[in-house]
Amino acid sequence: MLEVTGVQKRYKRKQVLADVSFQLKEGEIVGLVGENGAGKSTLLQIIATAMEPSAGELRLYGNRYVDDMKNIRKKIGYVPQDISVWEEYSVKENMKFFERLSWKRRSLEECRQLCLDLQLTQWTEPVHALSGGMKRKLNLAISLLHDPILLLLDEPTVGIDLKSKTEIGSYLRRLATEEGKMILYTSHDMDEILTLCDRVASIGEDSFYFDLLQDRGVQVERLY
Ligand SMILES: Nc1ncnc2c1ncn2[C@@H]1O[C@H](COP(=O)(O)OP(=O)(O)OP(=O)(O)O)[C@@H](O)[C@H]1O
Ligand SMILES: [Mg+2]
Repeated sequence: MLEVTGVQKRYKRKQVLADVSFQLKEGEIVGLVGENGAGKSTLLQIIATAMEPSAGELRLYGNRYVDDMKNIRKKIGYVPQDISVWEEYSVKENMKFFERLSWKRRSLEECRQLCLDLQLTQWTEPVHALSGGMKRKLNLAISLLHDPILLLLDEPTVGIDLKSKTEIGSYLRRLATEEGKMILYTSHDMDEILTLCDRVASIGEDSFYFDLLQDRGVQVERLY
């Protein structure tokens, strides 16, 4: 279980996260919505241990982040909003490279299978020749190399076609249901959020998304 309690973030004088508290349980997919600049990526970075909060506490399975950062980091898979892979290298070379950096050893066959599970079949193709959707799939596959229990995905399906979105969605659902992974996921695509997520949380002062979803009869947790 992930517990986020009273998390705040300031960039110099600018308050981005006012007071965020929520929990994520095993097997759950939670959608995080909010307008541009609401602080979704900031929150994901804090949960990913890539940034420290200005105040508040985070715990993973009861262990406080501040006490056990190194071990907590090993249990988290994070896909940032911007794609970050080696463009000149093939999918295979990227997977091999990131496998070496990973905490868990994976055979080449396992790496390949991970890509195939995501319907990413261009194993020897250089990444710059892949479509945006395929690159996102590769980013996702890389984040799964060390078999994290908590997966943080920042707009993983932006700009990709409905087929790839559906494939990524059903794969994430499988990870949650069969392996009990916890998934926190941001998107601006409300249909996708409603199809995929067990719960929806909104952040930001603007209540646009909150109202929109409530009008559609969806229960939304407002984080601040
Ligand atoms: N390193 C930084 N230094 C100063 N301000 C920052 C920094 N990173 C983000 N911000 C500001 O914090 C606010 C929240 O940004 P964030 O990227 O978390 O929003 P977001 O909800 O992910 O938006 P988007 O939907 O556009 O991705 C924005 O006003 C942004 O300008
Ligand atoms: Mg963002």
